[in-house]
Amino acid sequence: MTTPPATPTWRIVEPPMPASLEDPDAWAYHGVAALERTAALADLGHDDFAPRAVDLLVAARHQEHLRRYRLVAVEERADGAPADGATADGATAEGVPDGAPRVVGYGSLSLPVTDNRHLAVVRVVVLPSHRRRGIGAALADRLRRVALTEGRSTLFAEVEFAVEPAEDALDALTPREGDGRVSADLPGMRFARRAGLGLEIVARRSVLDLPLPGDVVERFAAEAAARAGADYRVHTWQDPVPEAWAAQLAALEQRLSEDEPNGGLVLEAERWDAARIRVEEAKRSESGQGALFTVAEHVPTGTLAGMTMLVYSHDRPEITEQDSTVVLPEHRGHRLGMLLKAVNLREHARVRPATRRISTWNNETNAPMLAINDALGFRPAGGSAELQAPLADVVPLTER
Ligand SMILES: CC(C)(COP(=O)(O)OP(=O)(O)OC[C@H]1O[C@@H](n2cnc3c(N)ncnc32)[C@H](O)[C@@H]1OP(=O)(O)O)[C@@H](O)C(=O)NCCC(=O)NCCS
Repeated sequence: MTTPPATPTWRIVEPPMPASLEDPDAWAYHGVAALERTAALADLGHDDFAPRAVDLLVAARHQEHLRRYRLVAVEERADGAPADGATADGATAEGVPDGAPRVVGYGSLSLPVTDNRHLAVVRVVVLPSHRRRGIGAALADRLRRVALTEGRSTLFAEVEFAVEPAEDALDALTPREGDGRVSADLPGMRFARRAGLGLEIVARRSVLDLPLPGDVVERFAAEAAARAGADYRVHTWQDPVPEAWAAQLAALEQRLSEDEPNGGLVLEAERWDAARIRVEEAKRSESGQGALFTVAEHVPTGTLAGMTMLVYSHDRPEITEQDSTVVLPEHRGHRLGMLLKAVNLREHARVRPATRRISTWNNETNAPMLAINDALGFRPAGGSAELQAPLADVVPLTER
């Protein structure tokens, strides 16, 4: 444990909104991306999901469904001027202009606007070299006040972890409802619980190592197709979503948010329409990402019974994320979940042969989805703890 310095050598600022990543005002976006990468490598052992500067900028540009409020903690030199933009290990972060402030902490508040208007999603991350100096607490308290001003009533946060503790580990913490464990000793868990947040869910991260051996996917696809029968026909595409399916795809996304087990989290169903599908697609396109979809059409009615999607960054060929998968209740029991995933994986192997791993997150209580993933060969690889508290009960961390 380090002793906090008597006077802070950092201060909190609202980052400017840059016109582009080449704009000198983009220093905070480059600095946050460098910080996120350093923290992810230290905390999780990989930076597969650390947001890049472009992801942060695209999220700032597209606030149609999620408003963002961001703060950065920047280091100051002894003379009071901000320090220049070097990363924790002393290297200059990619894209950080010379002389730009050095980002040592980052806080964001995400405020849903289309649905879940009671919710404020908070994220605080501090450079490992700068922890236990009160930076996280100062960021969290500022964000708490913004959430209150915005009239939100529930605060939600996630703490990611690399390894699930053993069942008999002294520090193992289990959600009130449901399965899964997280270590109560993680800095993020200590921090969040200190602020009064309670553990509601543990989501398991699962990883599928690629390429898959032999004909695994082909076999699962054929077995599932035989069970599903002639009433179902699959369609596969890469972005963009065909106009004919956009509204139905939105209905499936909405259904997923209605049906996904959420433990004790105070969550409303999301509201999706074709326009929201296009917003997500535009965000992917602007940040150099793409998605591969497989849907199941119920042939007698011409309607979609289910969908699955894989999302990836074109400049990171080695990794892909398994995003939403859903089958409508009236079409369950026909192996459509396996059919969709197996067909999409088969197509993924064709269009992204260099990919080495696919990650996905599922609530530990979502047995049907976990069973499909296990059968396909996904292995557990840590996860994320989801915490919440009524905003009125959240404890300020800097006021003791
Ligand atoms: C969690 C995190 C943001 C804390 O940042 P920080 O700047 O070190 O936090 P602070 O110094 O302001 O700590 C505030 C209080 O949180 C608790 N805390 C934070 N880290 C702790 C640790 N490693 N062990 C025990 N308590 C801890 C303490 O109560 C601390 O107060 P104290 O130092 O007076 O005892 C940082 O560890 C981090 O970036 N972790 C990875 C991302 C994450 O999990 N974020 C949390 C989810 S939003």
